[in-house]
Amino acid sequence: MSFEELKTAYTAAGQSQVFTFYDSLDESAQKSLLSQLGSIDPARVSRIAATVLSTSPEDSSKSTEIAPLPETSTASTLTASKGELKVWEENGMALIAENTVAVVLLAGGQGTRLGSSDPKGCFDIGLPSHKSLFQLQAERIISLQNLVEKVTGKLEIVIPWYIMTSGPTRGPTEAFFKKNDYFGLAIENIKFFEQGVLPCIDNSGKILLEQKDKVAVAPDGNGGIYRALVQEGVLKDMEERGIKHVHAYCVDNCLVRIADPVFLGFATSRDSLVATKSVPKRSPTESVGLIVSKGGHPAVIEYSEISPEMAHQTLDSGELAFRTANIVNHYYSVEYLRTIPTWTDNYLPYHVARKKIPCVDLSSGAPISPTKPNGIKLEQFIFDCFPQMELTQFSNIEVLREDEFSPLKNKVGTVGEDDADTSRADLLKQGKRWVEAAGAIVDEILLGVEVPPIVSYVRRRGTRVCKW
Ligand code: UD1
Repeated sequence: MSFEELKTAYTAAGQSQVFTFYDSLDESAQKSLLSQLGSIDPARVSRIAATVLSTSPEDSSKSTEIAPLPETSTASTLTASKGELKVWEENGMALIAENTVAVVLLAGGQGTRLGSSDPKGCFDIGLPSHKSLFQLQAERIISLQNLVEKVTGKLEIVIPWYIMTSGPTRGPTEAFFKKNDYFGLAIENIKFFEQGVLPCIDNSGKILLEQKDKVAVAPDGNGGIYRALVQEGVLKDMEERGIKHVHAYCVDNCLVRIADPVFLGFATSRDSLVATKSVPKRSPTESVGLIVSKGGHPAVIEYSEISPEMAHQTLDSGELAFRTANIVNHYYSVEYLRTIPTWTDNYLPYHVARKKIPCVDLSSGAPISPTKPNGIKLEQFIFDCFPQMELTQFSNIEVLREDEFSPLKNKVGTVGEDDADTSRADLLKQGKRWVEAAGAIVDEILLGVEVPPIVSYVRRRGTRVCKW
């Protein structure tokens, strides 16, 4: 698009401030600004801004139609019979043995709360081995492939790993994998892809300039996964490989059970298009989304948007009324992912994240490094597609927190929870439980044992997913 065309489009959208410094730029800076502006639809940004700025953050949790998920949509690994667990596990393993299962890692977040500029997956939580989160996950994939080969007798089992990065995390993530020889996985079975970005806006909806010749942009939230799966050719690659089932998960959970056969078996036994795992919420104020039924459809109310009344509501038993905590372990059938192009552009809402966004002062051209939030990053959330489903097409399974969820969110010494210390302690305590269950006597003074995922995928009550 020419300068004139862009100027007309941005002016019509009320965003002409992006040209404030245009005349003072040299030719190459002008070119670079025009090229970036050409990749943005200013009318769309203004439309999104108008919507988010007129919606109150708590609107989504105020509806009277919100209720806990009905029992028909849920199950629990804690109360399921040994027989049920065994059937789910065997069925899940059979799906893996047919090479129809892939995993998608959400690794586009910038880990600002952690205070590190490296991708979170590179983080060393201080295990004796100093393995990174990426390495723990890679070893679990290898271990599960080996285990399924052993149990089913099928050979050459592959669980492809699709890693979603963003502008800021892609380069360092790929470099880290390369430096570590892809942790022993075959490079052709790992595919990095990139989510999109959206312009940052100020509190009145105007696009911010990061520099005189550059619009401030940020990753479009983990809901950007859907557009990226299609645009980056991931879905096509899955189809070509014959993938029918997908497990998507967060990078920051050191206990994540990647491609858990029990989860796969559970979700497919219900013919679910989408399924989730959950744990009971630890306290009313824990920073976790709530999996609920909203207007008769599955939904997640994010922690930043839960009203205090809802967060604290209790039952007669004293338990929290809304306690099904979202741990971002999602099952998707590829049949469902195929429908993405029909809804991704107009269904998912945008959420407001008020942040400190470095920008230039439009009147003086001086750089501003804000000390308090001065603008908005627009984000889509991965779970916002759930409400288009019927409750019968969705299921949730509760799992044991101590075995499946210990997220790395905060810097040690800041919040005192969900940090590298708690991640390490939870993983080592789990290792101790496992070796004790296998007959080892662990000295009482030992707080934990590091069991490398490469030698043991998981041990679960009543199942045989355990090898020593
Ligand atoms: C997320 C969930 C929350 C859940 C909690 C559990 C969402 C929107 N919220 O919250 O409901 O209870 O985890 O730990 O899912 N990511 C991207 N691209 C982005 C932003 C994030 O790939 O643009 C990835 C991150 O790398 C991470 C995951 O999404 O793997 C979750 O992001 P994070 O910011 O840690 O989410 P929370 O706010 O903790």
